Amino acid sequence: MSNIQFDYSKALGFIDEQEVLSLQDTINTNYKAIYDKTGKGNDFLGWVDLPSKTDTSLLKQIEQTANSLRAKSEVCVVIGIGGSYLGARAVIEALSPAFNLLKKKKGNPVILYAGHNISEDYLTQLLQVLNEKDYSIVVISKSGTTTEPALAFRLLRRHLEEKYGEKEAATRIVAITDKARGALKQLATEKGYQTYVVPDDVGGRYSVLTPVGLLPIAIAGFDINKLIAGAQQMESFVKEDYSIGKNPVSAYAAVRNVLYNNGKSVEIMVNYEPNLYFFTEWWKQLYGESEGKENKGIFPAGVSNTTDLHSMGQYIQEGVRNLFETVVSVKNPDNTLLVPEDADNLDKLNYLAGKRINEVNKMAELGTTIAHVDGGVPNLRISIPEISESVLGELIYFYEMACAVSGYLLDVNPFDQPGVEAYKRNMFALLGKPGFESETEAIKKRLNQ
Ligand code: PA5
Repeated sequence: MSNIQFDYSKALGFIDEQEVLSLQDTINTNYKAIYDKTGKGNDFLGWVDLPSKTDTSLLKQIEQTANSLRAKSEVCVVIGIGGSYLGARAVIEALSPAFNLLKKKKGNPVILYAGHNISEDYLTQLLQVLNEKDYSIVVISKSGTTTEPALAFRLLRRHLEEKYGEKEAATRIVAITDKARGALKQLATEKGYQTYVVPDDVGGRYSVLTPVGLLPIAIAGFDINKLIAGAQQMESFVKEDYSIGKNPVSAYAAVRNVLYNNGKSVEIMVNYEPNLYFFTEWWKQLYGESEGKENKGIFPAGVSNTTDLHSMGQYIQEGVRNLFETVVSVKNPDNTLLVPEDADNLDKLNYLAGKRINEVNKMAELGTTIAHVDGGVPNLRISIPEISESVLGELIYFYEMACAVSGYLLDVNPFDQPGVEAYKRNMFALLGKPGFESETEAIKKRLNQ
């Protein structure tokens, strides 16, 4: 059974459904390549059966580590970038109260993030906050050599050691990295930090259900057993029947591929719940890095409505017609809040009195969908019953599998990211990193031309 429903009826005015259904054989072949590990990037398919293979003893160990950090931390700083950051943040922000003041319960540390930018102001302000707080650090880098998290860790490690002394600091740091290689692994061994391993066959952007995501999520106080159980449910469901008519993963992959082949090269993920903002960020990385190569791929964008209806709404309604939207629609909010009656009714809102705020939100969603379809933007809809650990687990696996199937439909390797290296080479050359001498010379010549 799946709690995720996919509806593409509002895209059918733009594409021929036969074209969608005709992809069935290719999609079956793609699943086979994924399960048999015979397709492109087949050494990075560890995520496919990760939920069902996750040992309860690993989950227990992660919970123990989380509890010991929770007990002594008002703040936990999660250091990482890209796939070593976005999955944890997506789940934590989706499940957390919107306001930091509510998050700050005793024994429930606020999670702050570092290592995902190189901003001097951001890092300075973070250190200022940490001067006042008891804190711990989870540092995550699969390669163990990425510049952004390495820089942030160097600063924060020094700060932590000065604050608590080297011995206590070492008990407040957990490193998640490769089992044997990389500078972070070496440092962790030398300093005696507790470590968790990022499996060799799971790439960063598919790693949220490994300790990379699970430890920060557990520290934030959420149930990683339920998250994994949800993902397991989707893992089994996907395998039952690949047919586009019954399997939302197949349908989503097929429809977006047909839209792309019909000139819709930008997909906008739309939410009406601000808690899903970082889920969209996670999805953008997953799809952008997986599909955007060899001069191909759908550009993943995101909006948070109704906020963005007052900024991006104009473009979506009337701009270049190369867009389609995928709404992630949440059926049941956690809370009930009614619009109050007002004697003066100066704002003319009494026609809504007694209605739930969610009903207004849902009518905004429906009204927008109709308007955008009328304006030439095909609409896909992924419905989930609620934002909970188990549903997020299902949704994560849904998107991961759909991404792999979609990448194979495009005939690219959905598990590599060769293009990410280009900026790094230039940055290293400009900074004069040892080993980059000829690149430094070449880039300086270019800049002086
Ligand atoms: O998806 C990916 O592989 C990347 O986004 C990486 O996760 C990101 O570059 C961070 O790499 P690392 O974990 O090696 O520091």
